[in-house]
Amino acid sequence: MKPLLAPDIEAYAQHHSQPESPIRRALREATEQTREDAVMVVGPLEGAFLQMVTQLVGARRVLEIGTYTGYSALCFAEALPEDGTVITCEIDEEVAAMARRYFAQSPAGRKIDIRLGPALETMRALTGPFDVIFIDADKTNYLNYYRHALHLLSPHGVILIDNVLWSGEVLKQPPPDERTAAIQELNRTVASDPRVTAVLVTIRDGLLVVRRKP
Ligand SMILES: C[S@@+](CC[C@H](N)C(=O)[O-])C[C@H]1O[C@@H](n2cnc3c(N)ncnc32)[C@H](O)[C@@H]1O
Repeated sequence: MKPLLAPDIEAYAQHHSQPESPIRRALREATEQTREDAVMVVGPLEGAFLQMVTQLVGARRVLEIGTYTGYSALCFAEALPEDGTVITCEIDEEVAAMARRYFAQSPAGRKIDIRLGPALETMRALTGPFDVIFIDADKTNYLNYYRHALHLLSPHGVILIDNVLWSGEVLKQPPPDERTAAIQELNRTVASDPRVTAVLVTIRDGLLVVRRKP
């Protein structure tokens, strides 16, 4: 992932936002030390933003598509009230096992339920409503995830879709690969969907914030 913001500006923003909890810091550092794909972790700044949105909508139920090692799921769990829940979908047993080890070390971890398997199948079997739905998994399914998410969303809920700037690749025409094309199609679809309002927030790799029109 190519940083879109100057690193010193990113660091400044991070240092003037809600800091990450000690357990999230430990998880992020362990992920960075043991995995080559650690760039997938949303990190402290976007994590603080996810927590802010969760609390602004007064969320009780969160659905996440793409657990990885559990960093963003922990962000949501920490921001939820005591009786809040996070259902998080992951296809890779190995990263899910690491996430479970860290969830067990956090008081918020008991709010998190990992569903192993293809996320589309998990979503089809779920009953809504969810107050926050965070989409952060395989990009070629983004449009499918968005369509399902709209069915599962509570009336006041928010859909958050990550990596929608895709290191700036979204500017390229024709799209250089299938994943870029899928993200471009998602961005076009949401921008012209009369049922919703959206803002593409230029945090980290781009986060699309979507809610139903009242
Ligand atoms: C970008 S990472 C998620 C990062 C995580 N939200 C965080 O901030 O730490 C995407 C994850 O989606 C998972 N994934 C990919 N395809 C999937 C699918 N079809 N169903 C469920 N999970 C999938 C990958 O294994 C990977 O762990």
